[in-house]
Formats: sequence, C-alpha cells, structure tokens
Amino acid sequence: MIDLKGKKALITGGSRGIGRAIALTLSKAGCQVAINYFRNKKAVEETAEEIMSSRAEGEGSPLLLKANVGKPEDIVSMFETLKKEWGSLDIVVSNAASGVLKPTMELTHHHWQWTLDINSYSLLALAQHAVPLMKNGGKIIGISSMGAFRAIPNYTLVGASKAAMESVARHLAIELAPKKINVNIISAGVVDTDALKHFPNREELLENSAKKTPAGRLITPQDVASTALFLCSDLSEMIHGQTIIVDGGYAIVA
Ligand SMILES: NC(=O)c1ccc[n+]([C@@H]2O[C@H](COP(=O)([O-])OP(=O)(O)OC[C@H]3O[C@@H](n4cnc5c(N)ncnc54)[C@H](OP(=O)(O)O)[C@@H]3O)[C@@H](O)[C@H]2O)c1
Repeated sequence: MIDLKGKKALITGGSRGIGRAIALTLSKAGCQVAINYFRNKKAVEETAEEIMSSRAEGEGSPLLLKANVGKPEDIVSMFETLKKEWGSLDIVVSNAASGVLKPTMELTHHHWQWTLDINSYSLLALAQHAVPLMKNGGKIIGISSMGAFRAIPNYTLVGASKAAMESVARHLAIELAPKKINVNIISAGVVDTDALKHFPNREELLENSAKKTPAGRLITPQDVASTALFLCSDLSEMIHGQTIIVDGGYAIVA
C-alpha cells in the first residue's frame, strides 16, 4: 500500500476521465486533493461527492478550483486560493487538456495559441507557482499521449502541444531535482473518455487500438491513475524527467 497521508495534491482537469481517476486514487491513498475544472460544475461536484464517500479517515473535503489552465490570470487566482486554504503543496498533476482537431492546412494561429496554452504553457505555469509551496520536495506529473511522437490525422496541434509539454518536463526536471522535486510524464495509450467524442473516427480508433494492443485491452483511467500513484510515492525518488508509456505495449508493435 502506498500511503500519501498528510500530502496535498492539485489535479488539473480532475473532474472527469483520467484526472478524476487520479483524484480518487490519490484521495484513497490518504492525500488531500484540490480538483481543478473549467466549464462543467456538475461533473466536479459529482467527483467531489465520490471522494467524500471513499476518502481515507481524517482527510479533509476536496477543494474545487475553477480555472482555465491556459490563462495566466486564472492560474494566479487558483494558487492564491490554494495558498490561503493550504499554505503548502506536495503534488501537481497537469492533466487538463483541450485542442483543435483539424487537418493541418486548416489550422490558424488562434488554434495554435489555444491548444499550446492549455496543454503546454500550463505545465510551466503550474510548476512556477507550485514550487514555492513545495517546502519538503514534491512531485510534478504531466499527462501526455503518443501524439507527441507519432503523426495521427487531425491531431497536429495536440501532438505538438504534448511534445512541448514533455520537453518542458525534462527541463523542469533538471532544475528541480536538487530541490527533491521529481518531474515526470505519463504518456497514455487510447483511453475511452469523453475526450474521444471529439474524434470523428472514435469507434474505429477504439477498435483498432484494442486489436493492436499486445496486452489485449484498452488502457483504463485507472491504469494511468495507478502509475500516477507510483510517481507520487517515495518509490519513484530517483525517476526524473522521464516519459513513462502506459499503453499495454501498443507503441512498440512494428
Ligand atoms: N483519452 C485518451 O485517449 C487519452 C490518451 C492519452 C492521453 N490523454 C490525456 O489525458 C488527459 C485527460 O484526458 P481525458 O481523456 O480524461 O479528458 P476528458 O475526459 O475530456 O476530461 C478533461 C478534463 O479537463 C478539464 N479541462 C478541459 N479544458 C480545461 C482547461 N482549459 N482548464 C482546466 N481544465 C480543463 C475538463 O474540465 P471541464 O469538464 O470542467 O471542462 C475535464 O475535467 C489529457 O491531458 C489528455 O490529453 C488522453
């Protein structure tokens, strides 16, 4: 059992999908959680309710923080609340993502800015605000995808944003390792969440991914959350700046 009692974690996009599984998993391990969301209040309230009913003994209520992680001013106000409520922080999971899915020739500068701000700038900004609160070391985790190293139709901007995020993580890792802060990335295979509803070929994507995965099934939000739990624990002390692929072997198939 990994025990995170006494730790405090911020999970961006923690209200739905993979982020929700991470928030629940860290909470069950005894961690206090702050759940960031953007638009969907009902989803964050439902997740908070589930956390309240399954949390470890003595753990406080989750903090619910509305903010667009692509907006510097929203990040500032989110951390003002965190500082006021908690005063310190041990874990940040940069999980929230958005992005314009279009063929390359249709992409605009606005699409680029929207996607890169939410998916890449966020990791940098979250780290800059979180590190001063990480007085006894900490863990910073970003959630990426195989679009960072593969070309996938319509995925240009999300792929570019994930590649940028992975690079930011490596650079943060070398600066923060002396402060006992680990920065790592989890790169997940296809997970059947709401995010996939935006893909025109969702059914085909799910079917092909399951078929091509050596482990014989799709990745679940819990697979990603379990890896996040490991990276949040003392067991990962000497892992710095890595991208850990959780895909059931999909990426290594020729
Ligand atoms: N699903 C996959 O196949 C897959 C594969 C590899 C990697 N990933 C990565 O895993 C992460 C989670 O994906 P998911 O599939 O779980 O997504 P999801 O189910 O669509 O959930 C997205 C979450 O992010 C929040 N969010 C969206 N834009 C935001 C913003 N600008 N600021 C703050 N929060 C925002 C949403 O909050 P609201 O509902 O309030 O808007 C929601 O909580 C992403 O980084 C994604 O790229 C996903």
